[in-house]
Amino acid sequence: MRIPEETVNKIRQETNITDVISQYVQLKKKGKNFFGFCPFHDERTPSFSVTEEKQIFHCFSCGRGGNVYSFLMEVDGLTFPEAVLKTAELSQIEVDEALVSGEQAKLQNKDSKKDFLFKIHEESLELFHHILLQTTAGEEALAYLLKRGLTQETIETFGIGFAPHERTLLQQYLVGKDYPEELLKESGLFIEKENGDLLDRFSNRIMFPIRNQQGKVVGFSGRLFETSDFETGPKYLNSPETYLFNKRSVLFNFDKARPAVRREKEVVLFEGFMDVIASWQVGIQNGVASMGTSLTNEQIQMLERITDQVLVAYDGDDAGVEAAKRAADLLTEQSDFDLAILSFPDGMDPDDFINEKGASVFKELISHGRDTLFSFKMDYYRRDVNLKNESERLGYIEKILTEMLTITSAVEREMYLKQLAVEFDISIDSLNEQFQLRFYEQQKKRSKEPKKNTPSPDVRSTTFPQVHNQRGKLDSVERAEQLLLNRLFHFEEVRIQIKNLSEEFYFVHDDYQMLYLYYENFQEHAQYTLSDTSIEAFIDFVKETQLKNKIVEIEFQSLGVEITPQEIKDYIDVISRKSLLESQLKQTKDAMTEAAKKGDQAQLRILMIEIVDLSRLLKNG
Ligand code: UTP
Ligand code: MN
Repeated sequence: MRIPEETVNKIRQETNITDVISQYVQLKKKGKNFFGFCPFHDERTPSFSVTEEKQIFHCFSCGRGGNVYSFLMEVDGLTFPEAVLKTAELSQIEVDEALVSGEQAKLQNKDSKKDFLFKIHEESLELFHHILLQTTAGEEALAYLLKRGLTQETIETFGIGFAPHERTLLQQYLVGKDYPEELLKESGLFIEKENGDLLDRFSNRIMFPIRNQQGKVVGFSGRLFETSDFETGPKYLNSPETYLFNKRSVLFNFDKARPAVRREKEVVLFEGFMDVIASWQVGIQNGVASMGTSLTNEQIQMLERITDQVLVAYDGDDAGVEAAKRAADLLTEQSDFDLAILSFPDGMDPDDFINEKGASVFKELISHGRDTLFSFKMDYYRRDVNLKNESERLGYIEKILTEMLTITSAVEREMYLKQLAVEFDISIDSLNEQFQLRFYEQQKKRSKEPKKNTPSPDVRSTTFPQVHNQRGKLDSVERAEQLLLNRLFHFEEVRIQIKNLSEEFYFVHDDYQMLYLYYENFQEHAQYTLSDTSIEAFIDFVKETQLKNKIVEIEFQSLGVEITPQEIKDYIDVISRKSLLESQLKQTKDAMTEAAKKGDQAQLRILMIEIVDLSRLLKNG
């Protein structure tokens, strides 16, 4: 089933590209455009930009660009119709039901390895979920979850299920469905016996689906529940690393949390996924959890793309406080997040806290009970210090004053100095003096250090790449080609001027020639069907990603608002001269091959000199 062009255009026109992209990338306005970190590659300076005016995006560093549909296709790995429907969904535009189900049917016929594996996981989820909610085998597990305070709705939202204790259930369920055996083995959901038979990996465990950034199930974590007699092993058993599942780059609930993170401008980072789920249930929906290990670079980068504020909400036990300190260090060393910390009393984790104190106390803690990073560190360093011992006490104060060098706000610094002064009964003046001393020492050290090439953090906001850097890389011909196309896209008279050329006109580079032909086609088609003739519509019309990127590059060339026929003629001259030279060169080369075949030495010499001359002209052209 095809989505009618009219619908495609309507959805695009009613969508603001920045609304969609900001669900994936944290955008900041700079002048007319928005900038952020490109979601398609790692980078330390934001070179990804979005213009609302043109409704397109462009990365100055990797060159990717396009409209809202190309963005979703690339970022979520969707087909064009899927991207259109997803845009409609994100912008809350009603679409014909038939279209949606048609797309889903098509999706189910796709046969790549990845799609098979996604489907195996999706079907496993359905089986586990069904067993939990609808069968006697799941009763005990369900009772356990309800006792822990989860509602039926939450169980459904997260797709929680139950894998009963017989070890062949999933195997029987999936084997009947003609999945290639190899893929079942690769899914990580089975253990292979010596005779090659498959046994279910998870048994007698409550199954939590783990989803990737696009919300597709890539693995499970199975929790042993307390009354289990059949199964031993770790409390949570996770899917092994597979083609789909890479533990380092998964954050539990990232897919569902993203809109709320955008809204709240903050992500809450938990240790365990029961914490994420319990918080979700009481309305804190911007929570994610790393998979039980220390935060990875990949996870930090995922967070960096959607927010710059993290609330760390780790468990209140010793291990949790240590882990929170480690997470805080990682988040501040590798990035410049604003951090706040939640501390839970009596070794509770957030889930325990919600169950024990109630949702409103928890929410109150989140809005008014958070620690700053510094006050968290003050508490942290105090933990193993005996403050009655004078030297330990002095050591602690030293440590805190040194840490204080990282605080840039004078007001905040003063607040902590006062706090220290009161607590240790030292005059604020002498504390301040101590602090100043350290401050100047640090400054002195800094100015002595040889200048390193590493940019200081403030440089970041001022190093947005400029369009002319990009343009500087183009040679004069390519530049003329881009400028000519830019003019063509915006001025009807340019089309006419090109068409009226007495000699046939070709672009030198195939990409631009293709774009020119496409554009002619597009205009004719659009005029005939009276449809959208905007550049965004043209981007959809062109199917090749590489050409879409070119269109955007062309659109980003900044040109004056007025044009003259002379300007256009100049571009054409530069391009034609080059293509003339090129075709001459090709003819001469052909003639040389002929002459060589005939053994005509005299002719060969003449032609060779000609080739050298033409090549030189072309190079300097
Ligand atoms: P916790 O032990 O804090 O789990 O481990 P939790 O979220 O509070 O779970 P409940 O309340 O006991 O059910 C934190 C995270 O560490 C990982 C899991 O991702 C868990 O959410 N973990 C823990 C494992 O992967 N394996 C384990 O055996 C234990
Ligand atoms: Mn817990």
